[in-house]
Amino acid sequence: MKRIASVSEMQQTSLEERRRGRRIGLVPTLGALHEGHLSLVRLARERVDVVVVSVFVNPLQFGPREDFTCYPRNLDRDGALCDNAGVDVLFHPDAAEMYVPGHCVYVEEMHLSTRLCGSVRPGHFRGVTTVVAQLFNIVLPHVAVFGQKDAQQAQIVRQMVRDLHFPLEIAVAPTVREPDGLAMSSRNARLTPDSRRRATCLWTSLQWVRGQVRTGQTDAAEMKRAMAERLRREGGATVDYVEIVDAETWAVVDAITRPVLVVVAAQIGGVRLIDNLLIEPGDASPDCALPPSGR
Ligand code: PAF
Repeated sequence: MKRIASVSEMQQTSLEERRRGRRIGLVPTLGALHEGHLSLVRLARERVDVVVVSVFVNPLQFGPREDFTCYPRNLDRDGALCDNAGVDVLFHPDAAEMYVPGHCVYVEEMHLSTRLCGSVRPGHFRGVTTVVAQLFNIVLPHVAVFGQKDAQQAQIVRQMVRDLHFPLEIAVAPTVREPDGLAMSSRNARLTPDSRRRATCLWTSLQWVRGQVRTGQTDAAEMKRAMAERLRREGGATVDYVEIVDAETWAVVDAITRPVLVVVAAQIGGVRLIDNLLIEPGDASPDCALPPSGR
């Protein structure tokens, strides 16, 4: 596996691979890799010849009171995981490489970015789209792979690719879960044993909504209210939001009569967690990647 820290070396490497007719896949990450990231790598591997993983803790997407400084960082471990997973290039620029002195151009999606995580974390998605646009211009991927856990991010990046005509495909891989259903996230490492136990309430409350829909309930407002109440009661959670949106358009729905995404963000023991579940009325199939022991 090649390790590259310089923007120009990464760009030259990608241009050379493209000249040789090889397809490039990008898995953008903040590092602190786990099985969820490795599932994105496997998806990329199936689609392309050269898999590039970027590790960059992007300061622009963290607010002033967020966890940028204590975000877990371990490049040696990330490198070893990537090497074992068959990654071809680990791209790990530092902030000065990505944001050149005088940097003042930003990329901003103006609609979905203001809602849900965007309303709780102003500027977050502007930081994401700006750095992802840079990564696309540096790594020149044919395919970029994102995780369904960050569903709002994936939707916003899709919109950016569409509106700015980036010549690449966005692939979204299913959420990978711990055996008890907790969505894998680098932030899980910051949960105390007690918070970790309580954090399963995100998954159990999402499943509760799915159970309600299967019994014929359609009242979205009532389900959101009851789900938030469960999160507070069972998980001691501070709920940032619980919302039910159309799975295609992300418009808020009143009645669950078509495929919807239930999205949730909550803080447990001071750690902010997000999760979501696609619910298709009348469909009993699971839509997430739980390890075998968790099924
Ligand atoms: O989802 C993440 O890990 C980050 O938001 C991303 C896409 C790598 C951009 O910094």
